[in-house]
Amino acid sequence: MSLLDRIESVKQAALNELRAAKELPSLERAKGAFLGGEGQFTALMKELGTLAKEVRPLAGKAINAAKQELEAIVAEKRAELELRAALPKEPTDFTLPGRRRSLGKLHPLTQVTDDIVKAFRRLGFAVADGPEIEDEYHCFDALNTPADHPARDAQDTFFLDVPSKPLLRTHTSSVQIRVMKSQPPPIRIIVPGRVYRRDNADATHNPTFHQIEGLYVNKGVTVGDLKGTVEAVFQELLGKDVKLRFRPHYFSYTEPSLEIDFTNALVKKLGKDWLEIAGCGMVHPQVFENVGYDPEVWSGWAFGFGIERIAMLRYGITDIRLFYENDARFLKQF
Ligand code: DAH
Repeated sequence: MSLLDRIESVKQAALNELRAAKELPSLERAKGAFLGGEGQFTALMKELGTLAKEVRPLAGKAINAAKQELEAIVAEKRAELELRAALPKEPTDFTLPGRRRSLGKLHPLTQVTDDIVKAFRRLGFAVADGPEIEDEYHCFDALNTPADHPARDAQDTFFLDVPSKPLLRTHTSSVQIRVMKSQPPPIRIIVPGRVYRRDNADATHNPTFHQIEGLYVNKGVTVGDLKGTVEAVFQELLGKDVKLRFRPHYFSYTEPSLEIDFTNALVKKLGKDWLEIAGCGMVHPQVFENVGYDPEVWSGWAFGFGIERIAMLRYGITDIRLFYENDARFLKQF
């Protein structure tokens, strides 16, 4: 057999042995037998000197090419066997209890939402729900927000790229319409839920956040009911030293409309006198018309506030993004 043929057959033998290795030691042993200092390829190299000058470079090249190919296979096989060696020998039973018992905790936003819901339930409010993917009718039109209103600006709203142009609700107020359309008054609901706006993320804004909507419809409802209810809930949530201030504002679905400012010791510590915390007002007669309630008979109020805002006040958090990063070191503190 010529040297070239022998190189090829040694290479084939090496390939077979390397590929057959089932554990790291047998792989290393095979590597040594072929590629090591005492290995078969070293022996073949030594024979080069006995060859005629013309064929020597060709044979040398063939040996080097074979060695390179085999080294690559060794590396690949080694990685595979190392990975296999690192895997557990027995299947893992993920249902076994942990060595350190820990059930985890509810996310701070969930805790705050639960507390707000509890406070309102005590006052007789039921929890209602609605879709996050909404249409313009429920999110804007029925709320008396005309098509040229700035709140409908494409800057603020995420639209879905399909022909019916659904959108991600920008506020939970859409659920007011859904609930009033589905049942006759009286109504006393709150709606916790996620909303979406095209805000760039910074310390106090995020493209998605959470709100609680409130709606009370009955006969002879007054702004006094609204103030008393909101004040009672905020004091329960954030302490007795809470003070609220109601300021005139504009929302298309309430008349009059008010904004609620909030203060307590923490707000003062942040160097502020008041923090804007909610929008509210008496339900606009046009909204009642839109859902088929007689505005001459029924009156009501509504409010909406951001849950993150309240959680930040409660816990003294200054960066909203902490709520969404799910860093266990942050979450463990609540
Ligand atoms: N939807 C308003 C917002 O997202 C908040 C709001 C204001 C809700 C007044 C209401 C309301 O129900 O009456 O900023």
